[in-house]
Amino acid sequence: MGYPLPEENALKGPFQPMRFEATVEECIVTEGEIPKDLAGGFYRTGPTWKRPTRQGNNPLLGMDGMVQGLVLRDGRADFRNRWIRTPKYLLEERYGRGMFEWTDAGFGDWRDTAYGDVKRDRFTCGISQGRANVNIFPFQGAMVASSEQGGPPIAVDPISLDTKGIVPWSPKLSRGLHEPAAYGDTAFTAHPKWDHQTGTLYGWTYRDVAPYVTMHIVHPDGSVDSRDLWDAPYNTVAHDVWLTPQWVVMPFQPFTLDRKRIEKELNIWNWQPELPIVIALIPRDDVHGEIRWIRTDLSPQYIMHTMSANVEDGKLMLDGPIFNRPPFPFEQDFAAGDDITLFFSIAKSCLGRWSVDLETGAAKSEQLSDRPSELPKVDERFYGRGYTWGYQVGGVVKRNGMSMNSLVVTNMRTLSGQEYQIRSDQPAAVLEATFAPRSPDSPEGDGYIIVPVSWWADKRGEFQIFDTHDITKGPICRIELPFMMGWTPHGHWMDFR
Ligand SMILES: [Fe+2]
Repeated sequence: MGYPLPEENALKGPFQPMRFEATVEECIVTEGEIPKDLAGGFYRTGPTWKRPTRQGNNPLLGMDGMVQGLVLRDGRADFRNRWIRTPKYLLEERYGRGMFEWTDAGFGDWRDTAYGDVKRDRFTCGISQGRANVNIFPFQGAMVASSEQGGPPIAVDPISLDTKGIVPWSPKLSRGLHEPAAYGDTAFTAHPKWDHQTGTLYGWTYRDVAPYVTMHIVHPDGSVDSRDLWDAPYNTVAHDVWLTPQWVVMPFQPFTLDRKRIEKELNIWNWQPELPIVIALIPRDDVHGEIRWIRTDLSPQYIMHTMSANVEDGKLMLDGPIFNRPPFPFEQDFAAGDDITLFFSIAKSCLGRWSVDLETGAAKSEQLSDRPSELPKVDERFYGRGYTWGYQVGGVVKRNGMSMNSLVVTNMRTLSGQEYQIRSDQPAAVLEATFAPRSPDSPEGDGYIIVPVSWWADKRGEFQIFDTHDITKGPICRIELPFMMGWTPHGHWMDFR
């Protein structure tokens, strides 16, 4: 059965779906050369529209994940994109139609999210609703996709991008928002951190009932150490953390979620700026050790994505772009019937730092730059070990939000930096950058930055590769995709060397 692409903001411009699976071997390099010393893959996933849902609407996070992979070896690039064949995807393929209904997918407006409960029937009974559509990260030799809520992590082969299946350690994880639909139907954050040397993965799940957060330390052998945070001050959208040599640092911010709100015809997400920001220092190597809770008097603000952290002279410095409010729609801004407005059109963020005095627990917030920026990344070999170099997508203020147009590199110790403007007025989406080291043992920040750029109005995509020695000279290489690159929020590099 054919159907038109719905006229909705979530499917327009850079969000137009890439509705096919492609293999482009030996991609055209339109400028420069792919560094011969690079060997690895750059993977991203994002919610991609395939067909109308059963309820006829298109909840933002109800769309299935599609993985995009750019494999670089011997100076050549091969691109593939594949649907991630989750249990939900396979069920809907079998019937050729949308099979799921959610409590928050029938509003027909900005409230449709598909984070509520599934209205189960004889078809969806026992089928995980996971969509694998927010992030994909390397673990145990596979790329692992997560939707944060709804289902367990899914492993993807790094070359073929074939779906290998639900990770074998999923039964050891905890549930997220939802009752598991089947054995092993758990959840996992989209933004875990890992220790490059040990291979340990630091993750968690969260929910709107106590315990609001459960930490999961996943070891390379697939064993999992878990801890319920029964002392958590309130439920929070626990989207990201910082990793230090000693702690997993989890912020409790007043961006909350509650399935009961859906019954009141509200979006599942809420912004409650009257709640204090509380920071949990969770011992990373002794997950059952004492957690230090730091209740701050920081004014209402929101860090969606962390950059990294340093601990020096008794001070914990937590870096990341700081938003004035979460870039998600709330009833304060939208009325019934309004179309969704997405992310960076709603709110703006600038690079900032929360500093915590480890003796007194006093916390302060500073803005480190006037430039709007988000999507912070680092040299991930140094997760949890302190850092110097931070990478972001920069932009300019646009109405209540920001328009992203550049790559920004910042020395987080001196705050000096470089910027390269990737686009000016052309319609294009500058997506999240990723760092790839020059060699496996090169110093922190020595290597390349790969930036996906969707020139969606021209129906083409591009990967720009920058050398961290000097990004102001522009990309050392441009790799072309002869079609529009689908939108993806996040991704990571897997090194093959
Ligand atoms: Fe994210």
